[in-house]
Amino acid sequence: MRVGTPTEIKNHEYRVGLTPESVRELSAHGHDVLVQSGAGLGIGADDAEYVAAGATIAETAAEIFEKCDMVVKVKEPQAVERAMLREGQILFTYLHLAPDPEQTADLVQSKATCIAYETVTGTGGLPLLKPMSQVAGRMSIQAGATALEKAHGGRGILLGGVPGVSPGKVTVIGGGVVGFNAAQMAAGLGADVTILDRNPDVLESLGHYFEARAKTRFSNKANLAECVADADLVIGAVLIPGAEAPKLVSREMLSTMRPGSVLVDVAIDQGGCFETSKATTHQDPTYVVDDIVHYCVANMPGAVSRTSTYALNNVTLPHALQIANKGWEAALRDDAHLAEGLNVWNGHVTYQAVADDLGYDYMPVSEIVGTKTT
Ligand SMILES: NC(=O)c1ccc[n+]([C@@H]2O[C@H](COP(=O)([O-])OP(=O)(O)OC[C@H]3O[C@@H](n4cnc5c(N)ncnc54)[C@H](O)[C@@H]3O)[C@@H](O)[C@H]2O)c1
Repeated sequence: MRVGTPTEIKNHEYRVGLTPESVRELSAHGHDVLVQSGAGLGIGADDAEYVAAGATIAETAAEIFEKCDMVVKVKEPQAVERAMLREGQILFTYLHLAPDPEQTADLVQSKATCIAYETVTGTGGLPLLKPMSQVAGRMSIQAGATALEKAHGGRGILLGGVPGVSPGKVTVIGGGVVGFNAAQMAAGLGADVTILDRNPDVLESLGHYFEARAKTRFSNKANLAECVADADLVIGAVLIPGAEAPKLVSREMLSTMRPGSVLVDVAIDQGGCFETSKATTHQDPTYVVDDIVHYCVANMPGAVSRTSTYALNNVTLPHALQIANKGWEAALRDDAHLAEGLNVWNGHVTYQAVADDLGYDYMPVSEIVGTKTT
């Protein structure tokens, strides 16, 4: 199969669909790989590295879309990219269609086969979303630690403290992938860490993992109020799947915090879990409300494009290889988790939630590829 990766063109997106190492794997399986000139510069990989891995360099994205059977990207295709999609062409990338009627309409019209990273399932979760939550969770402590510095508007607290001086206090709200990774980083720095969740199983496994290195509390109004008031740094990491994040920290609660304390709202991509959150960018990541510093960057992994690209490729490449090796129909028929990724095919919406939200008829994937007979 001929597989291609164009340069990402969404504002400040520095990740790339395929690393040179992924190109090498695809080439070793006998596939032709086309990479747009400069596509890897945001992760420090130049054209020569891609050529050494077996890629052919294409000057333009148009050449990639024209020549390739499968296009592998990171972000949803932008309007100019959607206009280049062809009938029957495979698009493998993040799509996030439900809140995006324009993109959905264009993909339906293109008659391309569109497989979305974010809806591919796995045992216990969404494996192609997980690495980005791991990155954001780990980054949240870095971002919070920087914001706590005096010159950045913070209280002037070093999270780990030093011998003879207490460490900073970190409250993590939500103990899922983001929260676990945030707590790991904070505990690793020597901070005083408390994690709140409302799922007893999550609290139990966090308790087993962290033992004395972090406290766990059930997430109710009283415990939240106490832990927020006591914290130097609060990480918002809750998720209620498919719903807007609940506003767990009200503006009123800010007045109970010490001035110069920091809120990092990782859940901002679902509307945020603090009443005073509004989305910010990497150019201007923080703002202050009632003496509390807020960091609310909606695409945190974009700042660490190299780590994020490699983490993403670790989970996407095995699927890309299956699709390239077997063709998309057999790959989806053989792997029910990958089949969940098909969102649009040949002018039909094939993902129930997208069809329901945007008013399309829903065509089940099983009707298209059949089900596996063993
Ligand atoms: N800003 C970014 O760049 C970025 C990057 C990755 C993920 N995210 C977002 O971070 C959020 C968390 O993602 P995740 O992968 O950790 O989700 P997850 O499902 O793994 O974890 C969410 C946790 O929140 C808990 N929760 C739900 N309601 C709660 C409440 N009232 N109090 C306390 N805990 C509660 C759940 O029990 C669960 O353990 C999501 O909104 C996700 O989209 C943002």
